Amino acid sequence: MPEKENAVVVSKDKLLIDEIKINISSIANLIGSIKSHDRAYNFIKEKRPSLIFIDIRDDVETGLALAERVKRLLPNRMLFAIAGALNSKLILRSLRSGFTDYILFPFDNNEPLIDIVKAARQKGKQSRRAGEILIFSSNKGGQGVTTIALNTADHIQRLFNGRVLLVDFNMNSGDIAVFLDLQESYTPLNLIKDIERLDENLLFSSIIKHPSGFYILSAPENITDSASITVEDINKMFQVLKSFMDYIIVDLGDGFSEKTAAAFDIADNIFLILQQSVPSVKSAKKLIDLFYNVGYKEDKVKIIINRYEEKNLIGLHDIEKLISQKIYGSIANDYFPASDAVNRGELITRHHSGSRIDKDISALASRITNIKIDDNDQGRKKLLKKWLSSIYRGNKARERKA
Ligand SMILES: Nc1ncnc2c1ncn2[C@@H]1O[C@H](COP(=O)(O)OP(=O)(O)OP(=O)(O)O)[C@@H](O)[C@H]1O
Ligand SMILES: [Mg+2]
Repeated sequence: MPEKENAVVVSKDKLLIDEIKINISSIANLIGSIKSHDRAYNFIKEKRPSLIFIDIRDDVETGLALAERVKRLLPNRMLFAIAGALNSKLILRSLRSGFTDYILFPFDNNEPLIDIVKAARQKGKQSRRAGEILIFSSNKGGQGVTTIALNTADHIQRLFNGRVLLVDFNMNSGDIAVFLDLQESYTPLNLIKDIERLDENLLFSSIIKHPSGFYILSAPENITDSASITVEDINKMFQVLKSFMDYIIVDLGDGFSEKTAAAFDIADNIFLILQQSVPSVKSAKKLIDLFYNVGYKEDKVKIIINRYEEKNLIGLHDIEKLISQKIYGSIANDYFPASDAVNRGELITRHHSGSRIDKDISALASRITNIKIDDNDQGRKKLLKKWLSSIYRGNKARERKA
């Protein structure tokens, strides 16, 4: 039997909450009901329920605004507007705000709530938005591709809360497993072998989920094994992954071959990582020219400057001139957090949250997903820090007195 889904109701009306709970009990557990629309967003962000019922009877505008924010954060969730009357203008506005359906309360016995939810679920499955493939690559070793791909996957997962997959497709020397201290993992090669019988259950029971929430396909240990993968396999693999995942972040390593070309072709975006040095910029330029010669549109290829230093003799404008393209983002040169994370086998944000590199990668994830870094979260973190340091100062003062 499939696992039950989680549901949340945003309403002050106890009767409505009870009726929803009873009506959907065969397919979903009500994990919370929240009275205030303001608090609801954070609760939904934390719990990520699949069914969200928002009562818009008392305050239409706040209800619609909440739906819009939730839809941006969790695009594949089902949102139901609970309304008091049929109103064609309001139905249209609700659907435009991201609601899946508009339901009248008291419920209509002729159209049970459970049937409405099941129908929406079926429709949702059919129209699931295809996942985006984001390739991180360079034309030279050691530019920071793995560091950025990996930590961007983490920040996208934190912001977006959906299905985020990190693929180590650096078949010759993949090191995501080392960076994350993984013992064993399902690899692209395993996936290609299983592809004909691959369904949602098999995929999610096979791939590793990092404690931070994103999934991982790590590179095969044996290089000869990866040599057997064909261009057709690569195309099939990414097509399948698009149907199950929201974001597929690929560490493609460096260099260009028939196989990496297949991945570049299918990608929605290519993030080319380079540093502020003449050899790095020159080698990146070769790859950029090649991308334009094969006909990639300008906004498919995005340039990221890694280990950025403001005082470097080669500035961002100089690089833009050399490559004839705007720079999409820059990541600070921040040696200790980057290397300490690798040595620990952990993500940068775990022990170095708020460091320059962490902030820049977080900003990159925010730009990619178009989701703002929640000011509330930052505010809460600041308060917590202040509170902890006041306790620390208090303890120190007591120690000195004693
Ligand atoms: N922004 C940064 N600031 C400081 N050090 C960094 C930064 N980004 C990466 N590094 C360091 O640079 C080194 C190379 O990074 P990384 O392994 O991510 O690059 P790569 O392009 O994946 O290399 P490879 O060609 O070996 O796959 C690592 O030691 C990493 O810690
Ligand atoms: Mg690497």
